[in-house]
Amino acid sequence: MNARTQVEAFPLVPGYQPRPAVPAASSPDFIARMAANDAAAAPKRHEIYHAVHKGLRAAMSDAVVRLGRVDLDSITHRAETLAAIADLLQLCREHLEHENNFLHTAMERVVPGSSCTCADDHRHHVKAIDALTSRLDEAAAADPLGRERAFKVLYRLLATFVAENFAHMEIEESANTELLWQHYSDAELLAIEHQIHAHIKPERMMTWLRWILPNVTRQQRAAMMRGMQAGMPPELFAGVLDMVKPHLSAFERAALVVDLA
Ligand SMILES: [Fe+2]
Repeated sequence: MNARTQVEAFPLVPGYQPRPAVPAASSPDFIARMAANDAAAAPKRHEIYHAVHKGLRAAMSDAVVRLGRVDLDSITHRAETLAAIADLLQLCREHLEHENNFLHTAMERVVPGSSCTCADDHRHHVKAIDALTSRLDEAAAADPLGRERAFKVLYRLLATFVAENFAHMEIEESANTELLWQHYSDAELLAIEHQIHAHIKPERMMTWLRWILPNVTRQQRAAMMRGMQAGMPPELFAGVLDMVKPHLSAFERAALVVDLA
């Protein structure tokens, strides 16, 4: 037996096979439609998925990078890294629930069957999150001999999950947004968004804000934070500000001071 045949094949994960690649966007003219929505002359429509997906994309990218850089010999760093992955999976579970309960419900109300493709993706994502959770537990429990492999398996599965989610989110931001715009006014979409916010437990809201606020444009951040400044008790807003600042660059912090003055 030569050295090559002694190498164990990279394990396939039962119940977690990457789905066939899907087109990045189901709506071929989505860039044109985005341009139309951004045109100064048009009343700009509310993009209900946009900010939260920016936060999720940032959280997912951060998790993959952190896992790739883990110090396998440090029990503390391993634990911190796995906790960050567990946090991401929790965010993903919550996000799926928000979309199923509120956005898919709104879509089905006006066009029965319109949420089927994304609902199917979500069922696959739930299985993927369960599989990743098991692999995460295995990585945490792995002995020194199996540790490198356990973390590598987790890393590759997480990267695949993130890739699937990026493609999925683009379909939501193009096709689903278009359908929602056809059937709901911005006031109605904002009402749905407020229902989602009301559904988020206060202790989880800070985690969502931690990922969304630093990872949107300066202008989006300023608009969101001015709204919070106006609508929140000052001590609560101070808490949000303290939370977000460490995740901003010096330039972004200075800009935020100007924007909130
Ligand atoms: Fe989704």
